[in-house]
Amino acid sequence: MRVAVLASGRGSNLQALINARDAWELAIELVGVFSDRASAGALQRASAAGIPGISLRPKDFATRAEFDAAMFDAVDAVQPSLIVCAGYMRIIAAEQVARFEGRMINIHPSLLPKYTGLHTHARALQAGDAVHGASVHYVIPALDAGPVLAQAQVPVLADDTPESLAVRVLAREHPLLLAAVGLIASGRVAADARQILVDGAPLSAPLQLDAENRIHA
Ligand code: GRF
Repeated sequence: MRVAVLASGRGSNLQALINARDAWELAIELVGVFSDRASAGALQRASAAGIPGISLRPKDFATRAEFDAAMFDAVDAVQPSLIVCAGYMRIIAAEQVARFEGRMINIHPSLLPKYTGLHTHARALQAGDAVHGASVHYVIPALDAGPVLAQAQVPVLADDTPESLAVRVLAREHPLLLAAVGLIASGRVAADARQILVDGAPLSAPLQLDAENRIHA
């Protein structure tokens, strides 16, 4: 499966995909890494792994719509079957989301529908949640609101800070993303903006990552 990755930052989720590809644990070809920040660590990781990297500067475009059109024309040019947003920190224009409906996923550090947007760890702590985690969902125009394929739950500890919680959630994000991409690569998942089918049956609740890093109902 041809996979394109969008990332704005350090790229540890991208690195997890690279490592799994290199270990032949995932049947994917990483066909491009795309960023809105030329300095993104993700682009350095791509270059070190021999994956083409492209960065476009939002400031070079008159409007967000023009920037997104250029970005997704570049993505389309590498003919991905799946686009993975892994720490891509921009809201994507609805027109571009529609263009890749059912083919674009995002990893988000909360148990959606809780805590869309930013500062998810601080918000989970503030709410006194006993359990926090991460989600892989299909991208729709509304931010972090598309159908959720899979989640990893992370217990909140009494002395957690947003930083300590972020570290433990990130450690579960990587196997979660690999399991979700692996399931999609196996051809068992079909999705649109409203629902996800796994083996032809509608998913009524997100799959869960277990201690062996497998996802199941
Ligand atoms: C992750 O926490 C991801 O869930 C969020 O942004 C962060 C990206 O981390 N969307 P990295 O760049 O993959 O290390």
